[in-house]
Amino acid sequence: MASFAFYLGANALFAQAVLAFNCSIPPIYVDIHKRAVHDSPAFQYGSFIGLGTPAQNQSLWPSLSQNHTSFSSNTFCDNSTLKDCDRSTGGFYVKEDSSTFKPKGKDFQPLDKQNDSSRGLFASETVRLYTHYFETDGASQTLLEDVDIEVVVNSSTTPSIVGIGQASTILQGLVAQNKIAARTYSLYIGQGFDRAGGSVNGSNAFGGYDSGRFTGQAHSFSMNTANRNPFSVTVKDIIITETGNPNSNTSLFDAKKFPSAKQPSAFTAQITTDQYPLSLPYQITQNFIKHLDATKDNYWGDNSLKLRSQFNGTLSIVIAGDNGDFTVTLPQEVLVNASNITPIQDRTEASSAPFLLSTAFLSQVYLMADFETFKFYLAEAVQKNNIVMPETFCPKAVPSAYERPKQGAWMKQGLIGAVIGGVLGGIGIAICAYCFVLGCQRRRAEKRVERAIEKSKQSKMAQFEVEEVQSFDPPPKASKVLFWKRGKK
Ligand SMILES: *[C@@H]1O[C@H](CO)[C@@H](O)[C@H](O)[C@H]1NC(C)=O
Ligand SMILES: *[C@@H]1O[C@H](CO)[C@@H](O)[C@H](O)[C@H]1NC(C)=O
Ligand SMILES: *[C@@H]1O[C@H](CO)[C@@H](O)[C@H](O)[C@H]1NC(C)=O
Ligand SMILES: *[C@@H]1O[C@H](CO)[C@@H](O)[C@H](O)[C@H]1NC(C)=O
Ligand SMILES: *[C@@H]1O[C@H](CO)[C@@H](O)[C@H](O)[C@H]1NC(C)=O
Ligand SMILES: *[C@@H]1O[C@H](CO)[C@@H](O)[C@H](O)[C@H]1NC(C)=O
Ligand SMILES: *[C@@H]1O[C@H](CO)[C@@H](O)[C@H](O)[C@H]1NC(C)=O
Ligand SMILES: *[C@@H]1O[C@H](CO)[C@@H](O)[C@H](O)[C@H]1NC(C)=O
Ligand SMILES: *[C@@H]1O[C@H](CO)[C@@H](O)[C@H](O)[C@H]1NC(C)=O
Ligand SMILES: *[C@@H]1O[C@H](CO)[C@@H](O)[C@H](O)[C@H]1NC(C)=O
Repeated sequence: MASFAFYLGANALFAQAVLAFNCSIPPIYVDIHKRAVHDSPAFQYGSFIGLGTPAQNQSLWPSLSQNHTSFSSNTFCDNSTLKDCDRSTGGFYVKEDSSTFKPKGKDFQPLDKQNDSSRGLFASETVRLYTHYFETDGASQTLLEDVDIEVVVNSSTTPSIVGIGQASTILQGLVAQNKIAARTYSLYIGQGFDRAGGSVNGSNAFGGYDSGRFTGQAHSFSMNTANRNPFSVTVKDIIITETGNPNSNTSLFDAKKFPSAKQPSAFTAQITTDQYPLSLPYQITQNFIKHLDATKDNYWGDNSLKLRSQFNGTLSIVIAGDNGDFTVTLPQEVLVNASNITPIQDRTEASSAPFLLSTAFLSQVYLMADFETFKFYLAEAVQKNNIVMPETFCPKAVPSAYERPKQGAWMKQGLIGAVIGGVLGGIGIAICAYCFVLGCQRRRAEKRVERAIEKSKQSKMAQFEVEEVQSFDPPPKASKVLFWKRGKK
């Protein structure tokens, strides 16, 4: 009853607030890839965000539960147990070098519950969100002044995080300063980092979504606002299919195939970026081990199971949505990597930890969150030949995928995809800007692209069927890199 009243209250609030949303405000698109970060000798994967004045650039990993955006102190590696610390924090932040650092007083109440109170300090700072489509063009920045951030001094986990929890200070700040339409957000985590072993990069869209990043229906789900992580779904089935053998489908829920005292049934799982491998119920994990002859392994430090021999096939997860089932298939290269390591974590029978659909799952899925109406949407991510099409995500609206023209028309009319996808940098950014100005009136933007292309007589369309490869910041030059120990005397 309490939650029913809560929803009524929330709806009434929403009805009042709906007039206040200005859905003409374009979203802020921040890409996720590997790049040089402040004071670290290595390229790091994450969201391109800077902190302080002058900017100290970072690569921040998105979290769906943490509310404050956090950064790693330059003294972080002195005491941390984080593996390969100097090249794993996402960058470093030297507060003494920033003129906009304002520490919070002792009475400051953080929005996140953390286990160790000696974790860090809070401050208000200037956060810089960078939008960078092409190397040939500079990044444009959105300044967000006086945001409450955390500077992490000691922790055993990754300190540099974009906080997209239910009380996200970054989303609230952007809304309060009229820089996005509402507290809406979308994420494609990508797979261009070591654990995933892929090359496709990800993106954040604050106040929006990238309609070119997903395909098919956006499946709707209700947030569970009582959870620290509100993104939970019901998993109905998990099916393993052998490549080239359509009759090989095996359900890990199949009681006949996997007799046991405790039959698996549908379960609730949380969607998270906190770890790479999926954590499934004990019996389902056992069925997976039995069916594919898996064994314990800890190469990546996350207890991912390893197969004894090669397996060519896929794993499909069937999720019950508000409007029909959504099936997510982990392809062969994700299910079993070249060394036979899988993205399924071992689980003990006694474990009461939540079941997780984690980063390996999100490498195949586009997630769109509407924190104003407590709804979220999942859709199949477009990984290759994607078209960057940021659009405003107005609360209550159901995101729709960019309609790709058919093959023939594609070559003629689909140029916009090639352009915005990265082949012709300069024009692409002009189109995006133009598109924003016109409130993303796509048809006009396409016309403009066609004209622009005719004019510049570009003939790179042959590349179109190939995955576009964007260029980003060049590698750090040895002489330019300030090593993290700089903070030490
Ligand atoms: C809504 O946002 C657009 C784009 O930023 C702006 O031009 C317009 O003035 C805003 N309208 C209102 C009512 O604030
Ligand atoms: C992803 O970003 C990296 C730069 O960190 C770039 O080298 C790579 O080509 C990008 N991948 C794709 C598929 O665009
Ligand atoms: C690291 O640990 C040592 C010993 O516990 C302590 O003296 C020092 O202040 C710590 N450094 C930081 C940055 O927390
Ligand atoms: C973030 O804020 C929400 C809403 O107040 C809360 O439920 C959640 O537990 C917070 N996240 C963390 C990590 O504490
Ligand atoms: C705090 O500790 C508990 C129990 O060890 C753990 O389940 C939880 O994930 C931890 N929370 C954070 C924010 O580290
Ligand atoms: C941080 O990134 C911005 C945007 O690309 C760039 O203009 C600036 O020079 C960078 N700062 C440093 C110190 O590299
Ligand atoms: C740093 O954190 C670890 C665990 O996260 C803890 O064991 C250690 O005592 C902390 N060190 C300091 C100096 O706070
Ligand atoms: C698979 O995992 C192994 C670790 O055993 C790692 O060395 C390798 O790079 C991974 N391969 C891919 C394609 O991710
Ligand atoms: C096997 O499972 C896949 C994934 O759920 C499904 O697409 C396919 O239709 C199934 N094949 C048969 C023969 O049932
Ligand atoms: C898996 O596929 C590869 C190449 O497609 C093939 O060489 C290998 O023999 C297959 N392995 C199994 C166990 O079917």
